[in-house]
Amino acid sequence: MIEKNGIVEIVEEIQNGVFLLKVKSVQIAKEAKPGQFCNIKVNSSLTPLLRRPFSICDVENDVVTFQFNHVGEGTKILSRKKKGDILNIIGPLGNGFNFLSDFENAIIVAGGIGAAPFPFLTKAIPSDKKIVSFCGGRSKDDIIKYKLENIITSTDDGSEGFHGNIVQLLESEIEKYDKTKTKIFACGPNPMLRALSEFTIKNGYECEISTESAMACGFGICQGCNVEGVNSDRFLLVCKDGPVFNAEDVRL
Ligand SMILES: Cc1cc2nc3c(=O)[nH]c(=O)nc-3n(C[C@H](O)[C@H](O)[C@H](O)COP(=O)(O)OP(=O)(O)OC[C@H]3O[C@@H](n4cnc5c(N)ncnc54)[C@H](O)[C@@H]3O)c2cc1C
Ligand code: FES
Repeated sequence: MIEKNGIVEIVEEIQNGVFLLKVKSVQIAKEAKPGQFCNIKVNSSLTPLLRRPFSICDVENDVVTFQFNHVGEGTKILSRKKKGDILNIIGPLGNGFNFLSDFENAIIVAGGIGAAPFPFLTKAIPSDKKIVSFCGGRSKDDIIKYKLENIITSTDDGSEGFHGNIVQLLESEIEKYDKTKTKIFACGPNPMLRALSEFTIKNGYECEISTESAMACGFGICQGCNVEGVNSDRFLLVCKDGPVFNAEDVRL
């Protein structure tokens, strides 16, 4: 874990309210693994006080990319950054995905901005594996496809792809993939992850979920990001034990 000043390369809006932030940071770029995140101080003043956590979306040479939705004060400030601005960043944090285990098909399940960690994962998965990306949103404008491969979409309102939610779409497609050779990687809102976990546990699919929680420190000190573990005698910390968990290990 490193606290570093990164230099903003570019902030660009890639679709309505969704931004890419590219920051030059040699050390974070060198150490980052897919599924990890960074805790970013969005400006140098005291407000907002808390850093904001964002998944590492991609790494190219010395540049780390983040992808974010403009939802409130912190992300508004980030969306207005300019080339050359300095950002204080702690990271890379958390555990990351286990993408080197024994599988042939990687199924990515991304709900809305939950697509953020998957460009980096897609690049890291060995090239002999097949990757399919299931991307869902409330409407077609909420689906994020940035640097994903073999995309199948769903929308709640039927404006693009399958009419229904992303877990229903996965349920209708999953039989095409041999259960013993398939691993699912997911990120999105908690209701989506809950429904997906119920399905994968009941049907015996290997599944890792990247979870979110309100955070302060980002590295295990404040205990503010706990989540209930299954068969565990303590609460788990999203920032330190996660953010990636096996679906059967946490109760969301
Ligand atoms: C490990 C981790 C990785 C994350 N990765 C990304 C990412 O790659 N891209 C991205 O856009 N966001 C990501 N988030 C969520 C992101 O941190 C929040 O959206 C951000 O902190 C909001 O800051 P804000 O000041 O703009 O909004 P605030 O003013 O803090 O909040 C505005 C609104 O957003 C809601 N909100 C705040 N945080 C969250 C959250 N974690 N989940 C759902 N709703 C929230 C609040 O309840 C409020 O309604 C991640 C969160 C975690 C814990
Ligand atoms: S955010 Fe402080 S312990 Fe996880």
